[in-house]
Amino acid sequence: MIIKRAKIRGRDGLFDIRIENGMIVEVAPHITTRDDEVIDVDGRLVMPTFIDMHFHLDSALTIGDPRFNQSGTLLEGIEIWSEYKKKLTIEDVVNRSRKALMLMVSYGTTRIRTHADVTEKKLTALKGLLEVKRLFKDIVDIQITAFPQDGILTEPENIELLEKAIELGADNVGMIPHLEYTREDGVKSIEIAFEIAKKYGRDIDGHVDETDDEQSRFLEVVAAKTIKEGYMGRVTAGHTTAMHSYNDAYADKLYRILKKAEITIIPNPLINIHLQGRYDRYPKRRGLTRIKELLMNGVNVALGHDCIMDPWYPLGRGDMVQVLFMTVHVAQMMGYDELMRSFDLITVNPAKALRIESMYGVDKGKKADLVVLDAFNEIEALAYLKRPLYVIKNGKIVSERNIEEVKVVDPVSRKPIVLDERVLK
Ligand code: FE2
Repeated sequence: MIIKRAKIRGRDGLFDIRIENGMIVEVAPHITTRDDEVIDVDGRLVMPTFIDMHFHLDSALTIGDPRFNQSGTLLEGIEIWSEYKKKLTIEDVVNRSRKALMLMVSYGTTRIRTHADVTEKKLTALKGLLEVKRLFKDIVDIQITAFPQDGILTEPENIELLEKAIELGADNVGMIPHLEYTREDGVKSIEIAFEIAKKYGRDIDGHVDETDDEQSRFLEVVAAKTIKEGYMGRVTAGHTTAMHSYNDAYADKLYRILKKAEITIIPNPLINIHLQGRYDRYPKRRGLTRIKELLMNGVNVALGHDCIMDPWYPLGRGDMVQVLFMTVHVAQMMGYDELMRSFDLITVNPAKALRIESMYGVDKGKKADLVVLDAFNEIEALAYLKRPLYVIKNGKIVSERNIEEVKVVDPVSRKPIVLDERVLK
């Protein structure tokens, strides 16, 4: 297959991309076609497929069952989910995940890290997601994090369930220290997560400080433990919204140890702009971790979608560019350079966190996991939020759509004309 006339981020001019056996074998201004399948993208942006670093497949698309979240709070979401999960079956997890993953693929994501709630005694969510991982292996690369939604120390059997989940095949060890009953239990839960991760040689992927409580400071404990255990580069911390409320002197100390620990921070802006600040009247906090400052201080940051139509978030369509759209607004990253660089948050930064950089990108020798956006530059991609034209996984098209033609009455000529949305040349 050859993709002709592609715009590649950070490079001037247009390029042809030749794909063979699932790999990119040549990138050059003009490649002569043989009997290849040709996709002429006419100057559109081609990127490596997006990576979603934090998602809850087990609860996806359960909205309204058994009831809708009326308060819009995290805690009501947890209550509704604990009711739903009593009737969870493997088949139900597989069916909903399948639908959610197809949506995500259609928007250009072919690699995700999902959480599986492992505080449910039969580990149904995990078993369902292991099946989903197997079914989708040629279309989406899935990593599963064993996620103790209700805490590691809140029930006597939860430690055992967490370890059993790893033995059954979960990839990463999760934790949720800010939700344990006490500060001491929170610290202890981090130690337990590290113990299990080290015993089985797994990475750590925590929910950390997802609260507006400025006293919630488990991230520093995670970072210190990472350094002491020599686990640098193997730990990610999701949400970390309390950082929004820390004082600047403390935040500054935190950036330094996060960098040293090589921790990747995973903000989930769609969900946290909705869930946080719920105890505030006005002024209301945004409740988003400090993305801009973390990046400026050399900390790796990668985004997560987190939820689609579930007890915590009623909207969403599995589109990482929509996640990025929310991010650049809430984090105030709308300068020209910031917008152009912002796609790093759903491409190269998560690739770094997953240690797959050697196979990831639009270059010779990389995997042919590519998305052809219906946009000519990063700004148009963010402004118009269109579904990609092609999504290619292992060198094969896994999603495609036609270019639509929109006719609108031109206010000057008063005749319908084809709408041209291009602004930046
Ligand atoms: Fe989450």
